[in-house]
Amino acid sequence: MYQFTSETEHDHWEVEALYDTCFAPGREALSSYRLRDGVRPVSGLCRVARDEGGVLAGAIRYWPVHVGMADALLLGPVAVHPTRQGEGLGRDLIEDSLALAAPLGWDRVMLVGDAPYYGRFGFSRLDAVVMPPPTNPERVLGRALVPGAWDGIAGDVRRWAD
Ligand SMILES: CC(C)(COP(=O)(O)OP(=O)(O)OC[C@H]1O[C@@H](n2cnc3c(N)ncnc32)[C@H](O)[C@@H]1OP(=O)(O)O)[C@@H](O)C(=O)NCCC(=O)NCCS
Repeated sequence: MYQFTSETEHDHWEVEALYDTCFAPGREALSSYRLRDGVRPVSGLCRVARDEGGVLAGAIRYWPVHVGMADALLLGPVAVHPTRQGEGLGRDLIEDSLALAAPLGWDRVMLVGDAPYYGRFGFSRLDAVVMPPPTNPERVLGRALVPGAWDGIAGDVRRWAD
C-alpha cells in the first residue's frame, strides 16, 4: 500500500512540513537537533513512505554521531501523518530503514524517544550513554544491529563533525 524510497532533495521540504505537522512547535530546539546542526544525514537510510497517489504519509531520517570512542546512528525524526497513524507505518519505516543499516556498515543505533513505543523494536535504555542536556536519560535508547554492539560503549554523544 505504501512505497518506501530513499529521501531525495525533492522530498526535503515536504518532509520538513510533515515533521512540523507531527511534532510540537519548537522541535528544532531539542538537544538532539544540536547533534544534527551542520552534519549531513545518512542519505541511504533516510526514507519516505508515499501512498498510491504519491502523497507523503511518513518519513524517517538518521544522522551519524560519536558515542565515546564509537560511532552510532541517531534515529529520528520519524513521523507518520496523523491520519495514517496506527496502521503499522511507523514500525515499517523503522524496520525497513534499519534493515539497510548493517549492510552499510553500521553496528548500532540510538535515539531519544518513548521506551514503550521503541521497546517494541528491540530498543532499550542506554545507561552509560549521555545525551547533551536537557535530555531525560530514561529516553536515551539503543539497539544493537550486530550482536553485542552496545556492550561497553559509554560516554557523551557528540556531533559527527566534532
Ligand atoms: C510515533 C509514530 C511515528 C508512530 O507511528 P505509527 O505509524 O502510528 O506507529 P505504528 O502503527 O507502527 O504503531 C502504533 C502503535 O504504537 C503505539 N504508540 C504510538 N506512539 C506511542 C508512544 N509515544 N508511546 C507508546 N506507544 C505508542 C500506538 O498506541 C499503537 O499501539 P497499538 O499497536 O497497540 O494500537 C507516530 O505516532 C508519530 O508520528 N507521532 C508524532 C511524532 C513522534 O512522536 N515521533 C516519534 C518521536 S520519539
